[in-house]
Amino acid sequence: MQFHRPLRLLTAATLFTLLAFAPSCTAFSQATEYSDKPSLLLGAAWYPEQWPESRWDADLALMEAAHINLVRIGEFAWSAMEPYEGKYDFDWLDHAIKLAEKHHICVVLGTPTAAPPAWLTTKYPDTLRVDENSVRDEHGNRQQFSFASSRYRKFAHEIAEKMAERYGHNSNVIGWQLDNEYAAPSFDPEAKTQFHAWLKAKYGKIENLNDHWTTAYWSQTYDNFDEIPVRQDHENPALLLDWKHFVSDTWKSYSENQISAIRPHADKRQFITTNTMGWFDGFDEYVVHSNLDIAAWDDYIGNEHYDYFDNGARHDLTRGFKNKNFWVMETQPAFVNWHRINSTLARGQVRDMAWQAIGHGADAVEYWQWRSALNGQEQYHGVLVGADGTPVPVYDEIKQVGDEFEKTGKALLGTTPQSSVALINDYDSRWAINFQRHNYTFDPVAEMVVFYKPLLNQAQGVDVISAQAPLSKYKLVVASGLNVLPKETAHHLLDYAQQGGNLVLGPRSGMKDEYNALNIERQPGPLADALGGRVDQFYALEDKVPVSGDLGSGTATLWAEQISTKSSDAKVLLRYGASNGWLDNQPAAITRKVGKGSITYIGAWLDDDLLAKVTASLLLQSGVQPVISNTPEGVEVCLRAGTNKSVIILINHNNTDVHIELPRAMKNLLDDTSHTSVDLHGYDIAVLQEK
Ligand code: GAL
Repeated sequence: MQFHRPLRLLTAATLFTLLAFAPSCTAFSQATEYSDKPSLLLGAAWYPEQWPESRWDADLALMEAAHINLVRIGEFAWSAMEPYEGKYDFDWLDHAIKLAEKHHICVVLGTPTAAPPAWLTTKYPDTLRVDENSVRDEHGNRQQFSFASSRYRKFAHEIAEKMAERYGHNSNVIGWQLDNEYAAPSFDPEAKTQFHAWLKAKYGKIENLNDHWTTAYWSQTYDNFDEIPVRQDHENPALLLDWKHFVSDTWKSYSENQISAIRPHADKRQFITTNTMGWFDGFDEYVVHSNLDIAAWDDYIGNEHYDYFDNGARHDLTRGFKNKNFWVMETQPAFVNWHRINSTLARGQVRDMAWQAIGHGADAVEYWQWRSALNGQEQYHGVLVGADGTPVPVYDEIKQVGDEFEKTGKALLGTTPQSSVALINDYDSRWAINFQRHNYTFDPVAEMVVFYKPLLNQAQGVDVISAQAPLSKYKLVVASGLNVLPKETAHHLLDYAQQGGNLVLGPRSGMKDEYNALNIERQPGPLADALGGRVDQFYALEDKVPVSGDLGSGTATLWAEQISTKSSDAKVLLRYGASNGWLDNQPAAITRKVGKGSITYIGAWLDDDLLAKVTASLLLQSGVQPVISNTPEGVEVCLRAGTNKSVIILINHNNTDVHIELPRAMKNLLDDTSHTSVDLHGYDIAVLQEK
């Protein structure tokens, strides 16, 4: 990285941004609740149980040399902690935690429940999960337990409690990870009984369920809750949605079972979390995070195709689970072992990714894993240290990240990303669309990213939040596909617009109610009156359809909705050109002023260029300005601000050099010099202090 020094005046836009952000920042952030621990953490997943104790000190010394100050341990070590039923062995873990402390490395403890020991599943096969076709898992691999099994939960509670009794007040243990990557539900008899009880609690009388599910269809009418099948596809859309809600609640109570074992024995400063998987939609993350302290996720690209927009959206999504800074609990040291071609990130991109995580609000970045295990299912995965115990090439790049975290940690302490733009993530809508895509290429997550991309580019900061989150701080709120729109959510959104917010709804919005039943008003259902228009018909597209308007022209692909205006003050923004006859010259996007704000409906999956013109116009109308204007393509600008401080992280995601003009002189925290422009090599980064 090189810097230039010519001084330029602060632009009006940036002055506005700085004044708007710095004093209004209320969210507090730090990596841990322990004031004596570093404010940014660099970590590795370490498995001491796989190695002779005589080797541990050498590993920890190599970590310390790379500025690694965090290890996560234990999440698959149940058979080492409880080798026989009720016989515990924690001596090795005591030593590992103590030795880590000697090397100034703090510890997150994983409860080992993603990998039950063979004695447990052999003696109690009823704890094993059953798949949708009624096949029970056998022992082997991992995650073979039933999330609903009361017996499994009893064992999980016991091991978590034993760990908490021993380490809940260990000054080197800063937090807990429950299990590992919650994923597959179980269809065992106990889970089915619980689902029926859950439905009974929700609907009270079977008649209510029959009514909301429209069970007269195909003779599905039920006389009692026990008759209801348990499936996750090819079923009534209402059943499918309720199954997802049940699964979400069951994972939440699965967490609660372990939280209730840990919390009474744990220092208040120790957080409890679990590690999630980005866009994974097996359950509603907002529900599952309601009893966790922080959000954490496993950030894997899988191969060399690092799409920084998609990855940035996944960071912002995770930050939105608790609306505060989060952790990257795992990420790849260059490559993984589970993709079709496990190609590597280019030299420099591991550092690029680490800084993107920080830019989007991570306070810890942890690599999976420290060292290749000699055997086991993941021998080919990227590591920092090879089986021989010496560093592999990426070690030095991670060491550089560690050095940079040390230099910038103080400035970043108490800062969090800032945004006046929000993108809505709604699991009900994603599920509802995925149950019946109508066009198999219509992926609701891809559509979110299509909207996210120009918003991130143009606003340089996007929050990804649930539809129920408070909205008043946002100037622009975009719901790319709010297919399920209950009346209550519609009121929440309408209130936001009436108070001065700008609400944008994307294709397929407002079609369903909370039972996944069609709304009897046409789309956007309960918001059609306020919009002053409605969708007359939706069409899945095989071919591109031309679209144009005052903002520009382009095409619609995959999906197009024929819209009509009902109010004279609803303005048509875009119209379709000639295509199937139905769409010809019909509105594709309309907008209307509502109270002090506006509602805009975009009924088509627009191409990137046209959508970028639309978002630019919406941002302008909403008064949203970038942090730094005129940055080169492929350069990301991330602003983190706190009380009286703000830090800008610049990331050059290109593999070529770029030049960036700064609006005024800023301090480069990596070498303590001041500059008004920055030159970055390919994949290079800069960390700049505003105040
Ligand atoms: C994660 C998992 C880790 C490891 C890693 C490999 O999903 O939590 O235990 O398997 O993948 O990429």
